[in-house]
Amino acid sequence: MPIQKIAVVGAGLMGTNIALDFAAAGFEVAVTDARPEALATSRETARANAEALAANRLLREPAAAVLARIRYREQLVEALRAADLVLEAIAENLDLKRGLFAELEQLAPPQAILASNTSSLMPSLLAANLARPERFLVAHYWNPAHLLPLVELVPSPSTSKEVLEAVRELLTRIGKRPVILRKEVPGFIGNRLAFALQREAMALVAHGVATPEEIDAVARLSFGRRVPATGIFQTADLGGLDVYLAICASLFPNLACDIEPLAALRERVAQGKLGLKTGAGWFSYSPEEAAALRAKLNAELLRRAQDDRSA
Ligand SMILES: NC(=O)c1ccc[n+]([C@@H]2O[C@H](COP(=O)([O-])OP(=O)(O)OC[C@H]3O[C@@H](n4cnc5c(N)ncnc54)[C@H](O)[C@@H]3O)[C@@H](O)[C@H]2O)c1
Repeated sequence: MPIQKIAVVGAGLMGTNIALDFAAAGFEVAVTDARPEALATSRETARANAEALAANRLLREPAAAVLARIRYREQLVEALRAADLVLEAIAENLDLKRGLFAELEQLAPPQAILASNTSSLMPSLLAANLARPERFLVAHYWNPAHLLPLVELVPSPSTSKEVLEAVRELLTRIGKRPVILRKEVPGFIGNRLAFALQREAMALVAHGVATPEEIDAVARLSFGRRVPATGIFQTADLGGLDVYLAICASLFPNLACDIEPLAALRERVAQGKLGLKTGAGWFSYSPEEAAALRAKLNAELLRRAQDDRSA
């Protein structure tokens, strides 16, 4: 049976936009959260994001028509009624997620596919106590989920081929670009790549080679410009693998290989410097600067979504 009804459990940053994405593609979505006040915030965020999509000609119908397909339910059991696919987007905590999936197995229709949006937890760990692990997988979206096309699909060794294919087909049909991992690995693909860069960048700061501002300039003005066009391996093919081999041989022994988060990061977190949300992180932000940075990223992602649409 094709997937028709979606339930999203956890109406925070990710769940809100995952629900909006399915609703924009014409699906009925039920959203639930353990905190009723989270549902009110989610509704408000979805409205603002749907209006931004409409203003950028990224919806096929008025925002109100899309939003009318999202139903907010305080009771989990009501949200799960007749669901074909249940997407979990609650806090990143193994015990919490395992507890929820045990409940979902009891309450959701037996044929429902259960998917977790975990950023880091291996699907075999999450599915360890499930009676029907073949119907479970990880579907890792990127923030903001309604604007970034990638979804990493991570099956556990128990996930059935049919379940994986059903989710892949569904996501492809609604315009996402699912990538299926051939085996599970912590951090999946995207976060492993992104955090390898974070580690090296922090190490360069720690060793006094450059400031965060200078490193951001290097990233944006050099390889960062190529990545959208040629990714990683095509970039290497363009450069020449003989050249890359020579660079790897001389550089790998010198790259950061810390296995603990770097001290400078720990210190900032201990000082309450958490980034935009506290007004300071690696940089300081007035409320206006924080709003401007968010708006800049949003505008760029909306523009790229328009490019995808017209391609
Ligand atoms: N934030 C990101 O950039 C990002 C990106 C990709 C994946 N993820 C993953 O997505 C998941 C959600 O992240 P988020 O950033 O949306 O978090 P969030 O804190 O914004 O939202 C989580 C929501 O889940 C609710 N919740 C907690 N326990 C619950 C339960 N048992 N039942 C129902 N609702 C419950 C909370 O009330 C909260 O509203 C995490 O696993 C996270 O690692 C986050």
